Amino acid sequence: MGSLMDRAALREKPVETLTEDEARQELEQLAEEVARANRAYHTEDQPEISDADYDALRLRNTEIEARFPGLKRADSPSEQVGGAVAEGFSKVEHRVRMLSLANAFEDADVEDFDESIRKYLGLGGCAVSYTAEPKIDGLSLALRYENGNLIQAATRGDGSVGENVTTNARTVSDIPQRLEGAPGIIEVRGEVYMSHEDFAALNARQAESGGKIFANPRNAAAGSLRQLDANITRQRPLKFFAYGWGELSDPLGSTQADAIDRLRMLGFQTNPLTEICVGIGEMLDHYRLIERQRATLGYDIDGVVYKVNDLGLQARLGFRSTTPRWAIAHKFPAELAWTRLERIEIQVGRTGALSPVARLTPVTVGGVVVSNATLHNEDYIAGRDSKGNEIRGGKDIREGDWVQVYRAGDVIPKVADVDLSKRLEGAKPYVFPTTCPECGSDAIREEGDAVRRCSGGIICPAQAVEKLKHFVSRAAFDIEGLGAKQVEAFYFDDQLPIREPADIFTLATRDSDNLSKLKNRDGWGEKSATNLFAAIEEKRAIPLHRLIFALGIRHVGESASKLLATHYGSWEAFEAAMTGASVGEGPEWEDLLSVDGVGAVMAESVITTFHQEAERASIDRLVRELDVQQAEQRGAVDSPLAGKTVVFTGTLEKMTRAEAKARAEALGAKVSGSVSAKTDLLVAGPGAGSKAKKAADLGVETIDEDGWIALIGQE
Ligand code: IVH
Repeated sequence: MGSLMDRAALREKPVETLTEDEARQELEQLAEEVARANRAYHTEDQPEISDADYDALRLRNTEIEARFPGLKRADSPSEQVGGAVAEGFSKVEHRVRMLSLANAFEDADVEDFDESIRKYLGLGGCAVSYTAEPKIDGLSLALRYENGNLIQAATRGDGSVGENVTTNARTVSDIPQRLEGAPGIIEVRGEVYMSHEDFAALNARQAESGGKIFANPRNAAAGSLRQLDANITRQRPLKFFAYGWGELSDPLGSTQADAIDRLRMLGFQTNPLTEICVGIGEMLDHYRLIERQRATLGYDIDGVVYKVNDLGLQARLGFRSTTPRWAIAHKFPAELAWTRLERIEIQVGRTGALSPVARLTPVTVGGVVVSNATLHNEDYIAGRDSKGNEIRGGKDIREGDWVQVYRAGDVIPKVADVDLSKRLEGAKPYVFPTTCPECGSDAIREEGDAVRRCSGGIICPAQAVEKLKHFVSRAAFDIEGLGAKQVEAFYFDDQLPIREPADIFTLATRDSDNLSKLKNRDGWGEKSATNLFAAIEEKRAIPLHRLIFALGIRHVGESASKLLATHYGSWEAFEAAMTGASVGEGPEWEDLLSVDGVGAVMAESVITTFHQEAERASIDRLVRELDVQQAEQRGAVDSPLAGKTVVFTGTLEKMTRAEAKARAEALGAKVSGSVSAKTDLLVAGPGAGSKAKKAADLGVETIDEDGWIALIGQE
């Protein structure tokens, strides 16, 4: 960075006479100066420069960017609203996790949901009571009150850690600052949203003042709540519906409906379309009623949420890794629109999959502008499903076709249909490439696989870049200042390359060995480079589940990574087991499959990854750079079952096997199908046979169902 004199001299120069180099240098200075002024004003509450000078800096920045649009920086002040930078919120750890909901799309999915609940609880043909209410399309918020006072508001974030938006939440008139007669500790959860009317008026105001135009009410609500400057939030008309709770010092009622009534009496808005429905018929009737009213509600909803009404049953049903067993979201059918498919492009993903993407003439589908849609795979384009049966009546999809685009909720839009009467003359069937468009390697489609994959592995730049993007993504390493854009730039950087995850952690050392330092590069300054190195350093200590997820193993998503981490406990144990495992046989294979939620396909994928030489070497190089933290054993705190291996045999009369297994796992136990020397406890119901005998021979402690119920503390 130049001296103060240089800076002043530059600032004097009319924008029209700046050279490109000078412009670049000045934009960097401006970004730093504005960021510093923001920090002084917002964080330290000690402004260093006058408002007029601050405005002048921003104006100069905008003028230079207007003349040199290509030089606009990722951290440009013109991208920041009211001086706000996104990383400005403090973090809040949720004491009770904020989960999401499983989805149902068809009536049959709702029937399955009801049936699985009756089965899990062993209720046979008895009808279950549910509440049914609109699913509000906004963003969830947790409001914590202590002794009646609102003390904290937090967004959902990743479910475990959210953002502290207390000051902003206080500006929302639907959110009471004080509650009379509430439990000493109560965390109320619900949805922040914006009405259609307020959304339209906000966008009109924004258009007038040259501000940001929001794509839909949900984005407007999110953008408004996540403002660093609460005065901006205050001017945005946000609303709030309460539909649930987190931590409570006293229960709110014995049913979902009573608890929601109680929240209403405490001063919250609750949705007037909430109904109690007994059995599947009433649930679907209420869904239809809400669907008919959807257009006239004045706010966006995207489905109906059913929740088991009895809170005792909710507690028994509990949770899967990321969703409750006692609730489901029944989504409304997708939105449709027709447009032109301009061309088909092939993207190569981190596992080498060649994915066809439709580039469309932009079209609005349910309030969102769509210009890309997925075409799934080559069979889908050709008009076949993976078994070779016709879809769309066998119609194929060609470049230039008039196509129907389908969007359901947050799901990636897809091309659903094609209008043959509008097909252009001379349009040719699409020929799917058999080589990778990125690295030229053969793209191979294995028997039984719908997807064609690049065989280039590590040599394919597209795969490597996608792997790196995944590695730094939010649920993986989440390194501040190292996002998708930056890893891509580093991948192609010759002086300071990041070609594989391990390279991230040697970046600082390599930079200090280099003559051309990162801080002197385009888009980087002293501060941003130092910050990046510090952010990387901070992530050397990484929780095991994040590391497993970050490896980007096919079929291993976020929740599977958590299951694996909890099961194996440490990287050493996981790595040793995967190294020793063979696909389809042996104790390591059996043990891997015993994890609830791990099937043969996933197990094979993990083992294969650990046995591929290049892949394995890359993992080893990475792990040498890290300090991998042990996974917390589930329910480790004061549970008599923590870390124990339990086997069930015979008939259980008071709960189903599924429930018994889930309860045992929730208390930190591992449930196994067979008795061995490793078994700690056998729960034997009537009719127990060889397993009980084997347990007796091995001296394994054996209890009956009543003993089991007493052990897990359920009356
Ligand atoms: S209940 C344990 N009820 O939908 C999860 N959620 O996909 C309890 N949402 O994150 C959520 N309206 O932001 C619930 N009436 C409603 C809802 C609702 C909207 C949102 C919520 C949640 C997401 C789950």
